[in-house]
Amino acid sequence: MKTLNLGLIGVGRIGTMHANNLNTLRPQLAERGLDVNLWITDVAADYARTVAEGLGANFFDSVQGMIDAGVDALLIATGTMTHPDLIRAGIAANLPVFCEKPVAGDVEAALPLLEEIAAASGRVQIGHQRRFDAGYLEAKRRLEAGDIGWIHSMRAITGDMFPPSLEFIASSGGLFRDCSVHDFDILRWITGKEIVEVYAKGSNNGDPGIGAAGDVDTALAVLTFEDGTVATAIATRYNGAGHDVRLEIQGSKDTVVVGLDEKSALRSVEQGVAFPAGTAHQTFIERFDDAYRAELVAFIEYVLGERDNPCSPWDAVAASRVADAAQESLRTGAPVSVAMVPAS
Ligand SMILES: NC(=O)c1ccc[n+]([C@@H]2O[C@H](COP(=O)([O-])OP(=O)(O)OC[C@H]3O[C@@H](n4cnc5c(N)ncnc54)[C@H](O)[C@@H]3O)[C@@H](O)[C@H]2O)c1
Repeated sequence: MKTLNLGLIGVGRIGTMHANNLNTLRPQLAERGLDVNLWITDVAADYARTVAEGLGANFFDSVQGMIDAGVDALLIATGTMTHPDLIRAGIAANLPVFCEKPVAGDVEAALPLLEEIAAASGRVQIGHQRRFDAGYLEAKRRLEAGDIGWIHSMRAITGDMFPPSLEFIASSGGLFRDCSVHDFDILRWITGKEIVEVYAKGSNNGDPGIGAAGDVDTALAVLTFEDGTVATAIATRYNGAGHDVRLEIQGSKDTVVVGLDEKSALRSVEQGVAFPAGTAHQTFIERFDDAYRAELVAFIEYVLGERDNPCSPWDAVAASRVADAAQESLRTGAPVSVAMVPAS
């Protein structure tokens, strides 16, 4: 049995989910001859110690403590602004790193880090879990098989049911960087094409604190791809019907929809139509439960050298470029060209 010590930094919303997922994956990983131990650290030490105890994980009072104790890989699930320094700590210790999206608060902060990762031949996977979701994978397969034909338009939707804390919003970089970046990533990944221009609008009809924090609660981006294809990406913090993540791809031969099933957060008003009849997802954690687990398994395989990096920092920064352009368009009210990310 091979032992792998994974060091999780940050046990807030998403970090706790990764910790729970890793725990439930352990039997499956053991069948593959892997004994995976979870090590945990967080600046909120008392809380993290309790989480670690509850999961039978080892608690460390610092990242350096985990590194000194011989951790095999790092999982970074702390707030966005802390990502660059923690990625740096991982690559300086020659450790493979999984880091939640985004790489940094903005692209300007990410670019020097990309150079450092390249210079150190660092192994860094970024957390865009939709790449592991069965629906997005099937849409990509059908597109590549030619079943959809050429795309005339796409509509991406990301609707959170409730806003996160105002404290989180203030440090999130804005709705496009925090939420729509997942749509920007998946649109690039599915089509294999770059988004070259963004025109954005936003509104604030919910908690006035969101506007006071410099953000919008709802936003729409009109996206133009390098071949002229158009798409929209809409995000909101107030989708009362449930957590709604969908993508419609309409082509010359067929239309496919990701996220349309019995649990979709929408109601038909047509006579006799009961679909979708299920209870809608409430959170991103429920909606992408399987995808988050598959993402974690992929990281472990990447650590072991069994697969390529499924989401490189260069790829993630390319999506962040679109988010930055959208934030800029929101600010200026004008369309903004998306600058390309230098090749890795
Ligand atoms: N992939 C996704 O679907 C997804 C979903 C939610 C959040 N995220 C990303 O995950 C990150 C965390 O989001 P969250 O909602 O879990 O935030 P959160 O505020 O709930 O949790 C962050 C945790 O990190 C800890 N922390 C902060 N700085 C630290 C440091 N330097 N060292 C150790 N611990 C530290 C905090 O004490 C807290 O417990 C964000 O970057 C966010 O963009 C991704």
